[in-house]
Amino acid sequence: MADALPICLLNGALVPTNEARISPFDRGFLFGDGIYEVVPCYGGKPFRLQAHLDRMQAGLDAIGIANPYSPARWNELVRELITANGAGDLGLYIEITRGPEHGRDFLPQPGTMPTVFGFCWRLAAARIEQLERGVSAATLDDIRWLRCDIKSVALLGPVMLRMEAKRRGADEAILIRDDYLAEGSSSAVCIVKDGGIVTPPPSEKRLPSITRLVVAEVVAALGLPLDVREVHLSELYAADEIWIASSTREAIPVTRIDDRVVGNGKPGAVWRRVFDEFQAFKKREAA
Ligand code: PDD
Repeated sequence: MADALPICLLNGALVPTNEARISPFDRGFLFGDGIYEVVPCYGGKPFRLQAHLDRMQAGLDAIGIANPYSPARWNELVRELITANGAGDLGLYIEITRGPEHGRDFLPQPGTMPTVFGFCWRLAAARIEQLERGVSAATLDDIRWLRCDIKSVALLGPVMLRMEAKRRGADEAILIRDDYLAEGSSSAVCIVKDGGIVTPPPSEKRLPSITRLVVAEVVAALGLPLDVREVHLSELYAADEIWIASSTREAIPVTRIDDRVVGNGKPGAVWRRVFDEFQAFKKREAA
């Protein structure tokens, strides 16, 4: 785990991270009543911020919380937070909860003011070992709820799934619902078969991953075929390559799944091309 940097964002103000306080009656704490975003920043610039702000807005709309800030204000706050922490390559977390009340009622009270919390950490340059050897994954039944398109802070399901994956010696859990691929416990998933890339479509079974969209752009720029459709577990096992993608990990190769080796057990040739082009995208957009 990377340590939180010294300055955080709390309800519109930049404050020392170790002095930030919120109420134990915050509905985020009592009910997991809130949403969050994780935005990667390269060279001090947030990457695809508008896409993250759009997804944040969709999440707030879905759970009926009014967005406390305009897009312009979000842009300012994010940039102030990045600058206050010395810029560079960062992960940026933003959480919005329904806010604190004076007791506990499942039904939210009118007039509750949302809580906004943000903090950053240094992004380790893609860990060489993960890129050279790939990571391992365990397939597990998707025990989460039926609105996985909402980036809810209620993450008990993914926490339990990651603990189970670790117990099985795997780095990530790849979640299966009714024999079909849902997504990773904190990542999107793509497979490669005979040179073609396949990834499942947006649905309530998975988060609309922003990295997956970047990967789709990269794939298009390389002129590679991309098929967006549901993926059966048998295809996952038969894939030549499997990648997991997220804002903090970009796209990394999975080289072992359950007790099987993926492809030849090494990061694949298609992944290598996508990885290189992804780095070019990052550089271009940070320039
Ligand atoms: N998680 N699916 C799930 C369940 C996720 O938690 C994530 C990312 C993704 C990938 O989405 P994106 O490409 O927009 O990061 C897919 C973040 C990084 C997290 O919770 O830390």
